[in-house]
Amino acid sequence: MRRIETLRAQIEQWPEEFRRVGQELVTSYEQELADMTRQLAQTYEELVLLYDLGERVVTLLDENAVAEVSLQEIGDLLAVEGGCVCLRRDAGQRPEDWVVQNTTRPLSAADERVLHQASAAVLERERPRIVNNVAEAFAVPGTRLCTLLSAPLRVRERTIGVLHVFNKEDGEFRAEDMKLLSTVATQAAIAMDNSRLLALERQRRREVEQTYQATLQALSNALDLRDTETQEHALRVQEYTVRLARELDLTGEHLTNIRRGALLHDIGKIGVPDRILLKPGKLTPEEWKIMTLHPTLGHQMIQGIEFLEKADPIVLYHHERYDGQGYPHGLAGEDIPIDARLFAVADALDAITSERPYRQGQPYAVARAEIEKNAHTQFDPLVVDLFLRVPPEEWEDIRHRVAQALKTASNREDEFVRLVQQIRAERTRLEGNKG
Ligand SMILES: [Fe+2]
Ligand SMILES: [Fe+2]
Repeated sequence: MRRIETLRAQIEQWPEEFRRVGQELVTSYEQELADMTRQLAQTYEELVLLYDLGERVVTLLDENAVAEVSLQEIGDLLAVEGGCVCLRRDAGQRPEDWVVQNTTRPLSAADERVLHQASAAVLERERPRIVNNVAEAFAVPGTRLCTLLSAPLRVRERTIGVLHVFNKEDGEFRAEDMKLLSTVATQAAIAMDNSRLLALERQRRREVEQTYQATLQALSNALDLRDTETQEHALRVQEYTVRLARELDLTGEHLTNIRRGALLHDIGKIGVPDRILLKPGKLTPEEWKIMTLHPTLGHQMIQGIEFLEKADPIVLYHHERYDGQGYPHGLAGEDIPIDARLFAVADALDAITSERPYRQGQPYAVARAEIEKNAHTQFDPLVVDLFLRVPPEEWEDIRHRVAQALKTASNREDEFVRLVQQIRAERTRLEGNKG
């Protein structure tokens, strides 16, 4: 601006006949400069806005939220009455395959018909489109839409939908509006696609998780058929171990693995013959040797089953003792994985407090004394401390909850339990006949 002032001062010195032409030139130069500055400022503002929008939208994990934020921002920027997103149902090609979503203003059936047609046209051309006379272009009576600007939501060479804004407040849509909407549409499409992929991934994970649960259930049911230690024991001991693990602030995947390990701890007993597994009296040394194989058998069973391999610390080491006198490997102290050290206390708690065919369940106080007495020998003293920190009522509460859960299990499971009882009764009868 200072240069213009200097220029004007210089022109004042010019001869009369050139002075007017000179001044006119400076004025138009000044005008042009002002226009350029204004345009530059506007472009800068738009860039900042697009950048902000991009930043905000990529962090959104929900398709609807992406659409809403994008529409709100572009609506403000272009000064329009409203906007919406149209998505295609099952990749259909016809106007009726479109669904209008995320409308910022209420739309009539006629408005929606216009938007369906406009979307189909954008899909066909794969390019943005301005319609400044909706009545003429679409011949849909009764629509409130006058002007319409639409851009395809394209990602990975596919059009997943169309972004529309309508009724520009200061007249008609222009080419620069189209450019802006296209940029917003590109960002929105990427963000929407990401959120879709994420949703799919979550769904897939849920399905895998369900398969895992079913497999776990099948395994533990299979053991239930064989062993006198019931499924109830496995469920209780699972919850007890998890409770101890929480006291140690273990979370997430580690907790899941502990859960699975505790449920399946005796799965290897499936491989122990009935005459030993179900023998009512004392086992001979030979029989006992076979019985002590069950952690190793269990370990072998879950090898190669990816989601169960991490349950191995409990399956393989649940009969190890802190003083190294356990089996199958005679590990001692912290060489025994923490999962198994936690489990050992939980298993003892349940063994002492539960009813067995040969004796009544003991009260908590007895279990507590027994566990305290065996710190440093059978149990890790650190885990015994964790156990003592949990109030007795909580253990009782867990016990109660497991019993309730089993009671309210579905009919199918009830049927299964009845079947197990029948098979067991039959087996006892046959064994009785033999003996
Ligand atoms: Fe065991
Ligand atoms: Fe057990």
